[in-house]
Parts: sequence; structure tokens; C-alpha cells
Amino acid sequence: MIKPREEIVNIVPYIPGRPIEDVQREYGLEHVIKLASNENPLGTSEVVKKALIDYINGGINIYPDGNATNLKEKLSKKLNLQPNNFLITNGGDESLSLVAEAYLNPTDEVILSELTFPRYTDSSTIMGAKINVVPMKNLNYDLNAICENINSNTKLIWICNPNNPTGTLLTEKEITDFLDTVPEDILVIYDEAYIEFADSEDAPKNAYLLFQKYPNVLTVKTFSKIYGLAGLRVGYLTGQPEIIENINKVRGPFNCNVLGQIAAINALDDEDFLKKVYDNNIEGKKYLYKVFEELNISYTKSQTNHIFFEAPSMNSKTLFEKMQKKGVIIRPFPGNYVRVSIGTKDENEEFAKVLKEVIQEN
Ligand SMILES: Cc1ncc(COP(=O)(O)O)c(C=O)c1O
Repeated sequence: MIKPREEIVNIVPYIPGRPIEDVQREYGLEHVIKLASNENPLGTSEVVKKALIDYINGGINIYPDGNATNLKEKLSKKLNLQPNNFLITNGGDESLSLVAEAYLNPTDEVILSELTFPRYTDSSTIMGAKINVVPMKNLNYDLNAICENINSNTKLIWICNPNNPTGTLLTEKEITDFLDTVPEDILVIYDEAYIEFADSEDAPKNAYLLFQKYPNVLTVKTFSKIYGLAGLRVGYLTGQPEIIENINKVRGPFNCNVLGQIAAINALDDEDFLKKVYDNNIEGKKYLYKVFEELNISYTKSQTNHIFFEAPSMNSKTLFEKMQKKGVIIRPFPGNYVRVSIGTKDENEEFAKVLKEVIQEN
């Protein structure tokens, strides 16, 4: 047998939310809704769809611009930065793995929180780094405990704000106080995949600029959530040019496909679509809070497009399976927690109806 690298032997491949077609096939259901992967329930902007169709009509036989020059220029103008402050990646996921590939050695330690995005663990483990998991406080990152865990081997700290899956937020002051404490030779990867959904006045603003004051910070952004482009895989990092250039060395030559680049350029300006998605999320959040309160279900207030709650009177895996059989896909987590993505009005109502049925039948 040919042996793979030792670091990957115990890695369990990432388990995404179950696809709708899978569940339809397994249970013979015609109608299934998926509220399991924090996707955009309003689909994709019409402006973006038109730009994609126009582009496809011209042919997709030519390799993409590997540097994603037009997208970087568009982002530079929009965010008042320089093109060399950006690295465009195949979704935010690739940003995470490229950072790990460029910076982590097997002797390094990384710090991350419990109950956060699992790709931080996997990207670090693949490089052989040691993982230090810090417990949460009230289902949020405990930044003091993270600082206390820093030692001479610490190379990188992963921060998700607002956090997936708990939906909790670290305020701007908490983040800057934390960054004031972290030594400059430790990379901080600040992932704000969900920040566009936050409605708290204390939410960090313009965190893509953090590197200007804190050169050891890289901010991760994605077009998969509020922009509705999860299927095309576009994300990016902002940071100081020297760090971006090092990460660029490990990037594949055409990592971001041409349609992803076209879609992202057009998605950035469609303010009407972004507002619709934001408003739908706020309405859906209010509605789901009410449902949980009526059912006496303990839930965590969210600054994202998903809500974390405790499975009522059964374990989270059982609740997941029972709801799935009735055509509603959600996501179970350890510790008897469940996460539901906020959907359209109809999807939220269907989720509430099926949740009530499952509780009654139990
Ligand atoms: C916290 C967080 N970061 C990054 C990502 C990666 O998103 P994508 O690769 O689709 O850009 C996700 C996806 O769910 C996420 O939840």
C-alpha cells in the first residue's frame, strides 16, 4: 500500500449540508427544502445572471485571467485599497487552505475556538500544525482565554466573526483590544463571511482594513453568502502586500474561474439585491425567534443568516433525521445543538410547521 502523508490519515472529509436530490431520492419526496448550508435563499441577482449569460455567449474556451485583474481593480475602487492588497480565491475556503499552506510548519501551533468553522482545523491539520482548541464562553469566542493560550510556538489564530455555527458576534472594541494584545509575529486570520447580515451597532465595520493598523491580520471575505454566488466559488483575502504575495506563491494558476470573476464584479454593485437579501434575513430572523419562543426552545441571538438552537426533548441527530424525513434539511451539531439557515418566508414557515409536528409526534 502506498502511504499518504501522516498528517492526513485521521482527517475526516468535510461533510457539507445534504443535497436536496439525495434526500428526495432516499425518502421518495417531491418537495424538499434545504436550510443546512447558510446559502442565499433569494438566489442570484438578475444583473449577475445576465452578465454571465452574455459572457457565456461569447465562449468560455479561453483560460481565465489568473490574476483576476478586473475583479481586484473593482474591489480596490470600491474598498479604497490597492490591487496588491487582494488575493482572489476559489471561495473563502481556498483562502483558508492557502494561508495554512504558505505559513504553517509541523512545529507550529494554531489557536482556534470550539464550535467554529471546521475548515480552520482541517487546513491546519493538513499542514501538520498542532491545534489548540479554546473553550467558548456563552457560545461566543473567549478572546481572553485565547490570549492566555498564546505561547512561543503559536503561529496563527483563527477568528470567525460573526461565528458559524453559533451566530454570535465579537464587537469592534473586543476585536481591536484583542489585536492590540496579540504579538505581531502571530498571524490572525479574521473570517467575516457573514458580516453583511449583522444588525448590531457594535459589529466591526470595515474589517477588511484591519491590516492597515495590524499588519499581522488577514481578512477573509466571500461572495457565497449575501452575494448569492456559492455555486461559483469566489472569495478573497485582504492584507498587506508582502503577506498576500507569499500566499499567492502557493495558489494554483487559474484558481478562480472566469464566470466567478464576472459574477463577482457584477454582484458588487447590485445594491437592490443586497438590500432585499438583508431585509429578508432580518424578517426571517424575527419570525424564527418567535417560533422558538412559542415552542420554549433555547436559541442564541444571531448576527448571521443562521440560528443555533437546542434540540427540544430529543437529541440533535434525531431531530435532524425526523425533519429530513419530512423534507426539511437542517444541520445537527454536537452538544445537542442544531443550526437552521434563515430561508425565504415560505421556507421559514415550513420549517416551523415541520418542527412543531416532530415535537408533537415525539
Ligand atoms: C465562516 C465561514 N468561512 C468561510 C466559508 C467558506 O465559504 P466559501 O468557500 O463558500 O466562500 C464559510 C462557508 O460556509 C463559512 O461559514
